[in-house]
Amino acid sequence: MRTQVGIIGAGPAGLFLSHLLARAGIDCVVLEARSREHIEGRVRAGVLEQGTVEVMRALGLDARLTRECMIDNTLDIRFRDGLIHLDLPALTGGKHVTIYGQQEVVKDLVAARLAGGGPLLFEAEVLALDGIDGKAPTIHYRHAGAEHALPCEFIAGCDGFHGVCREAFPPGALTTFDRVFPFGWLGILSESPPITEMTYVNHAHGFALCSRRSPRVSRLYVQVAADEDPEQWPDQRFWDELRVRLGEGAGELVTGRILQKGVTPVRSFVAAPMRHGRLFLAGDAAHIVPPTGAKGLNLAVADVRVLARALGEFFRTGNPGRLDRYSDTCLTRVWKTVRYSTYMTNLLHRFEAHSPFERQLQQAELAYVAGSRIGGAMIAENYVGLPFDDD
Ligand code: APR
Ligand code: PHB
Repeated sequence: MRTQVGIIGAGPAGLFLSHLLARAGIDCVVLEARSREHIEGRVRAGVLEQGTVEVMRALGLDARLTRECMIDNTLDIRFRDGLIHLDLPALTGGKHVTIYGQQEVVKDLVAARLAGGGPLLFEAEVLALDGIDGKAPTIHYRHAGAEHALPCEFIAGCDGFHGVCREAFPPGALTTFDRVFPFGWLGILSESPPITEMTYVNHAHGFALCSRRSPRVSRLYVQVAADEDPEQWPDQRFWDELRVRLGEGAGELVTGRILQKGVTPVRSFVAAPMRHGRLFLAGDAAHIVPPTGAKGLNLAVADVRVLARALGEFFRTGNPGRLDRYSDTCLTRVWKTVRYSTYMTNLLHRFEAHSPFERQLQQAELAYVAGSRIGGAMIAENYVGLPFDDD
């Protein structure tokens, strides 16, 4: 087997890329270390920017999304002195976000890829990359008990934060930027109807978030210690604490059977450049953003959109111009998104190290946004998704 583009990882980045390349008539193979059940069962965020939905629509992958998604036109932020209510279409010239779980996106993309004949190999773990400095790189992987080599023309490293592709860059070729916040999010899925508005909360006890997956399933989070053991949070403790943090908003809260519970780290990480020779990084392999902006999946889609276009141009015309600009094009959006996600994280969380002065500043920032169309529009514009920086 050989291919034009070897894609490592079947998360959102690798799956979207495989569909975009297939549409452009470019041959690719996707290698995924884990099983299909595993990648389809991972619960993550579920807020899709309009640009992400448009990519799904353009690929003809939006049938179930259109039937099952929920359109969100508002974002609420509760804080000590009041409520910020953002009317997204009014603040962004008609835009909104779409609620549809990441694992549902993954299921739809996997099904369509397999129906189209793949190739998409599960339980195919990439062990090493060879020759990324030349024109004929090779991916070495293990599948069904044997080791194989996949010769390609390009490699797409879509293997997430813990993958092998970033490590394949030569020593000194990458600069990394990292901020680990001193807290995590304890997240649950609950079999209960969600509260009406997507609601972020800044409370003296810490951040909370009420989101949803469907009219019958809520996705709820509370800020906890970074190394918190979810076992310390029996269901009743979770509901009690969420109720306290929601304050007046708790009236609407309906409890239900908790289906899943886990702790998400809150961190930023950027590796630059996102390309070395014939190896291109995309998605979490190159960057992580704090979950406060709900941007991880959307940023992965933005990367592979740029990459697919650049590869398309190269294979069509031999012009490497867009490939050469890939890293710079992506990193402009990545850093804007890191900025927004960091802004929201700083605005909404309890920081143990804050002085009384800094606590007052945080409340003043919230009060400012509550009373300013421009302050609210800045949040809304980023939340619905910045326009793609096409070059
Ligand atoms: N060989 C093959 N596959 C690998 C290897 C390897 N050595 N290492 C990692 N992978 C796979 C993982 O099993 C995972 O399924 O790469 C995939 C990477 O997927 P994600 O972690 O989902 O990353 P990405 O596609 O960039 O998604 C970005 O989605 O997962 C969220 O938090 C993430 O929201 C962000 C967005
Ligand atoms: C989610 O629905 O899981 C979600 C929503 C908003 C966020 C993060 C996660 O900022």
